[in-house]
Amino acid sequence: MKQYTDRELAAFGLDAQRIPKHIAIIMDGNGRWATQKGLPRAAGHRAGVNALREIIRFCSDIGVEALTLYAFSTENRKRPKEEIGVLCGLLIEYFNREIDELHANAVRIRSIGDLSWFPGAVQEAVRNAEQKTAKNAGLKLNIALNYGGRAELVSAMRRAIDAGEPLAEDTLGRYLDTADAGDVDLLIRTSGELRISNFLLWQIAYAELYFTDVKWPDFTREELLRALRDYAGRDRRFGGLKTDGVK
Ligand code: FPP
Repeated sequence: MKQYTDRELAAFGLDAQRIPKHIAIIMDGNGRWATQKGLPRAAGHRAGVNALREIIRFCSDIGVEALTLYAFSTENRKRPKEEIGVLCGLLIEYFNREIDELHANAVRIRSIGDLSWFPGAVQEAVRNAEQKTAKNAGLKLNIALNYGGRAELVSAMRRAIDAGEPLAEDTLGRYLDTADAGDVDLLIRTSGELRISNFLLWQIAYAELYFTDVKWPDFTREELLRALRDYAGRDRRFGGLKTDGVK
């Protein structure tokens, strides 16, 4: 839920009219962050969760409507068992520990992707968080877990066809996992990689892209503000000539 007034937003250098409604983040670089510090990769993931807390809170406070996070891709299943175990442990810990505060802030949590691949304890922690926050009207927090954009599209098409829908852009959009969050306005990827990595392929059609060399554990509120100010300065034409009131 938005906590800041327009004047307070202005103090952050933000224009209330130019805050993206839907932000998506590829939280990359945890492993390299840790390795550079001579720490085990697990320490990087733990630091990544800490970074996440501040970002979710701030997005909620400035009135972002939806935040979709890439926490675990279908390709991440190829990682060593031990690292997957660490990530699963962090997910359980995160959902159990943060749920009360998220709920108090009216955040609505949903997972996207195939949760059934995860151990039961992860599924349970995620489902609990989803159920508890299902009726909240604040920030829509989508967490992509064992998610792939192509798989999401195929499944959306299957469901649309099974429901007897014509295959059209607006109907397909309604069958996506993020249907009620709409298109992505701003996609952020940390750690210097310039790739989409099969994330939200449909929803980013007209997203503004923001890449930074900062690794995810170092992505603070200040770094997010940098991205938001950059976004506010973009001229979003959606393929037309001009925006801002001109039809
Ligand atoms: C990318 O870093 C990050 C991940 C694969 C996992 C992201 C997960 C978290 C931030 C924590 C768990 C999430 C939640 C929602 C609690 P990398 O390991 O690919 O880094 P590297 O490219 O430097 O190896």
